[in-house]
Amino acid sequence: MTITFVGHGYVGLVTAAVFADLGNTVWVIGHTLEKIENLKKGILPIYEPGLEEMVKRNVDAGRLLFTLDYDPAIKDSSVVFIAVGTPPKKTGEADLSVVFDVAKKVGEHLSDYTVVITKSTVPVGTSKEITRIINEVKPQNVQFDYASVPEFLREGQAIGDTQHPDRVVIGSESQKAKDVLVELHKPIISSGGEKESLLVLTNVPTAEMIKYASNAFLATKISFANAIAQLSELTGADGKQVLEAVGFDKRIGSAFLNAGAGYGGSCFPKDVKALIAIAQNYEYDFTLLKDVEAINKQAIASIVTKTEKILGGETKGKTVGILGLSFKPDTDDMRDAPSVVVIRSLLGEGVHVQAYDPIALENAKKILAQENDITFVSDAYAAARDADVLVVMTEWSEFMQLDLKKIKSSMKEANLIDGRNIYDPEKVKALGFTYTGVGRS
Ligand code: UDX
Repeated sequence: MTITFVGHGYVGLVTAAVFADLGNTVWVIGHTLEKIENLKKGILPIYEPGLEEMVKRNVDAGRLLFTLDYDPAIKDSSVVFIAVGTPPKKTGEADLSVVFDVAKKVGEHLSDYTVVITKSTVPVGTSKEITRIINEVKPQNVQFDYASVPEFLREGQAIGDTQHPDRVVIGSESQKAKDVLVELHKPIISSGGEKESLLVLTNVPTAEMIKYASNAFLATKISFANAIAQLSELTGADGKQVLEAVGFDKRIGSAFLNAGAGYGGSCFPKDVKALIAIAQNYEYDFTLLKDVEAINKQAIASIVTKTEKILGGETKGKTVGILGLSFKPDTDDMRDAPSVVVIRSLLGEGVHVQAYDPIALENAKKILAQENDITFVSDAYAAARDADVLVVMTEWSEFMQLDLKKIKSSMKEANLIDGRNIYDPEKVKALGFTYTGVGRS
């Protein structure tokens, strides 16, 4: 098939590349000349393992085409995915202005029957507005159908998640659109691998709600783990062991039950907020999710509290090294990264921060460069040098292989806060560190 993606972020670009790799001709429409020109040369605006090679391979094969123009991409395509950002507004609701803008441009360029899909996470009911906009601007004789095909990919594992998802959800009120989309997704649904992808065919509001409910549930699971961790610290239980044992129950499962410095990223914080706002619109007070948010804030803030406690309240003028800035490993994404909250709090108390990340340094600088008293360093050892406290904020695998003896000898005081529980406390203590984990009293 020939298809179009509008948007080349973490979702649009990955999904476009995977569909091109499956043999489709894929147009990708952007709105920044520099980014589009770079993409044509294989220079990506984001970091995602394996993506650069996949993009290059498909650009070279002529299957992946980048453009600023809606014409001829939309004219050539039988399927158009809208995969642009929906950042949260101050109220918590998703800002849909770009989605609506794109829907208008897509509508204006339709020339034959097309299935228009939102991949972007949009509140239940948005389809009505998108359909209205397209109907208003499209040529009168052209038919289109609307569908919602939410994405469930995780950054860092985005290619694998797109090629072998747990489920493909296709929501539409049109059987014709469902048939087209099942055909397009056939190689993914029956990939023949050891993992089976389930197909969920449903209506649009259900598809939209599945996405929010999935992310909200995972965020709830993490916040539950963080609450248990906090209680474990107070009671003297080993929270890590508690959660491991809880996860052994197959009904619960161990995934997303790791306590730590809170969840971040472009999805959980935004989608939890948006679902609370959606519920509010229907006069349902989603108190459970409000607590999930509050616990997450607390989990992030607890890293600052632990630092203060270690420093005996005397934080001004002290040096804190931060290992890991991205919201999770294997991505350069800094959106809603807990590290930013922690760093800003520490800087506010007069702490000097030495920050390091294997991939996200450049993106972190854009967010934090205007802050005083932060130094961005090019390796983990430099972050630890002369530091009073070293804090692990993101569990990059290189941090698990550090020479901790070398780290200790370069620090002013050997205080380690393991915000992601990546180290064995006993081993670290044996090296002479004062160790503070999450949920470990
Ligand atoms: C998430 C969903 O997993 C994905 O299905 C959806 O489509 C988009 O949102 P992503 O944001 O890429 O993906 O990252 P994910 O791996 O889910 O992690 C989100 C956050 O939760 C990270 O900050 C991570 O550190 C945190 N987390 C995850 C925990 O704190 N504990 C855990 O046990 C798991």
